[in-house]
Amino acid sequence: MKKRVFSGIQPTGEIHIGRYLGAIRHWVSMQDNYDSIICVVDLHAITVPQDPRLLKGRIREFAGLLLAAGIDAERSILFVQSHVSAHSELAWILNCFIPMGWMQRMTQFKEKSVKQKEQVSVGLFDYPALMAADILLYDTDVVPVGEDQKQHVELARDAAQRFNNIYGETFVLPEPVIPDVGARIMGLDDPNKKMSGSEMGVGHSIALLDSPDVIRSKIMKATTDSHRDVVFDESRPGIFNLLTIYQIITGEGKKEIESRFAGKGYGDLKKALAEVVVEVLRPLQERYRQITADPGHIDAILKSGAEKARPLAVRTLARVKEKVGLG
Ligand code: AMP
Ligand code: TRP
Repeated sequence: MKKRVFSGIQPTGEIHIGRYLGAIRHWVSMQDNYDSIICVVDLHAITVPQDPRLLKGRIREFAGLLLAAGIDAERSILFVQSHVSAHSELAWILNCFIPMGWMQRMTQFKEKSVKQKEQVSVGLFDYPALMAADILLYDTDVVPVGEDQKQHVELARDAAQRFNNIYGETFVLPEPVIPDVGARIMGLDDPNKKMSGSEMGVGHSIALLDSPDVIRSKIMKATTDSHRDVVFDESRPGIFNLLTIYQIITGEGKKEIESRFAGKGYGDLKKALAEVVVEVLRPLQERYRQITADPGHIDAILKSGAEKARPLAVRTLARVKEKVGLG
């Protein structure tokens, strides 16, 4: 039996290379050895205000980009969270078992709620319970995510353990898998901030559908420092971030990269990096054009994905309801 992988992405903002290098490409490569389920988490997206006219389109766009990036709907289940109502149902039940104090420790909520001020919703606070439901419904073993989601996956594990302690073996305990390199890609304009989909300043991030010229211009303008030598030095966050992106895409070792750029300057690294990013995105963009040429294709895949996910989720939910004594 293969182990189960589950991960999700919120259909908000754009898919940038941080999301791609930190998470999506691992989902793609794990398909070979794991039973994988990938979810476009639209219920998570509405924890902050969304324009309904844009949200529906973005869900399809994200699904299309995941397929273009290499998620294979034959081998993996790709579906939309709101298409399987068991996610909301289990989230409610978990709500009744997760202590407030655990939620209050979540650093992402603290950061996001500062931005939202008094508009912050209960849903944003409770978001990790829904994420725990996503994970636990599928008897997930491993959850590949970027660094920012580690704390949420740990909460899901704690919630599973707490429930199991009360009711006996019910949930599989999931584990976060965080990449060694690229778990936190930083903004090109400000290497002290995580590259984020909601940060809309031009030059902050590279979107998967950016044209080669836009990619080149954003990388050439990336914030660095006044040094010159191209070395992996964490105290120089701008150049360290560019080198990290180069390292992940080329698969070369740090020493190899440093010797490639020995005697050269930041401008040379930027030029080389721009070409490497353009080339890695070129086939993805071509596949996206093919996928979207057939307007019904993505909807058909998402429908069939939900049909495969639903029975798995319903089975776990029934098990939980029985244990709790519902119905
Ligand atoms: P989200 O954008 O929050 O839906 O994230 C989708 C996945 O991409 C999650 O596993 C995140 O941890 C990961 N991710 C998002 N932004 C970055 C980033 N800047 N660097 C690395 N991973 C990221
Ligand atoms: N909260 C995650 C993020 O913002 C997305 C997500 C929702 C997720 N449910 C999940 C990731 C379950 C992994 C497993 O990135």
